[in-house]
Amino acid sequence: MFVMIGACRLELLQGDITRQQVNAVVNAANSELAGGGGVDGAIHRAGGPTLMSETRDKYPQGCPTGSAVATSAGLLPAKFVLHAVGPVWRGGQEGEPELLRSAFRTCLELAVEHHCDSVAFPAISTGVYGYPKDLAAEVALQTIHEFLLAHQQPQLVRMVLFDGGTYGAFARVLETMLA
Ligand code: APR
Repeated sequence: MFVMIGACRLELLQGDITRQQVNAVVNAANSELAGGGGVDGAIHRAGGPTLMSETRDKYPQGCPTGSAVATSAGLLPAKFVLHAVGPVWRGGQEGEPELLRSAFRTCLELAVEHHCDSVAFPAISTGVYGYPKDLAAEVALQTIHEFLLAHQQPQLVRMVLFDGGTYGAFARVLETMLA
C-alpha cells in the first residue's frame, strides 16, 4: 500500500531490504557498528566486505543510539547504506520513542544531504531489540509523514517489512493515520 504526501510517495512493501532498487537503504545497526544478524547481517553479506572496512575507517567510534551514519553500498543495488541505531526496548519509559524517532529523522536528513530521491527502511528496533511492532510503526510512520510534509523529499520512502505480521502492523497504523 502507499500514500502520497504532496509529490512524495510513502509505501509499505513486504520483502527483503537487500533487494531494493533505491538510492539508499537503511541498516538496523548497533552503536559499535560491529555487524550482527537480522538486517545487519543480510546487508553486510549482500554488500560485501568493503562495507565493514569503510564503516571502521570512517566511524571508529561507532554511532550513538538514535543517530545514523552513511557509507557507500558495496555490491548492493543502492548508492548508500545509512547505518541507523535504534533503541533497545526496555518498557517504553527510557526514551525509546524519541530515540527511534531520531534514528528515522537522521536517516531522512542524511538521504536529503546525499541527494537520494529514494530510501528504503526496515522496521528498525523491532527484531533483536524487541520494540513492539505496532508502537514502532506509529513512531516510524509519523516521523516519515512529518518529514515529507515539511521537506517534500525524498520523493520515495519505502518501509520494507520482512514478514506478514510486521506488514500488517504497519498497514493498520497507516490506515489509522489516514482515517
Ligand atoms: N529485510 C527486511 N527486514 C528484515 C530483514 C531483511 N533482510 N531481516 C530481518 N528483518 C526485519 C526483522 O524481522 C525485524 O522486524 O527487520 C526488523 C529489525 O530486526 P533486526 O535486524 O533484529 O534489527 P533491530 O531490532 O534494530 O536490532 C538491531 O540486531 O543484528 C543486530 O547488529 C544488529 O545489534 C543490532 C541489532
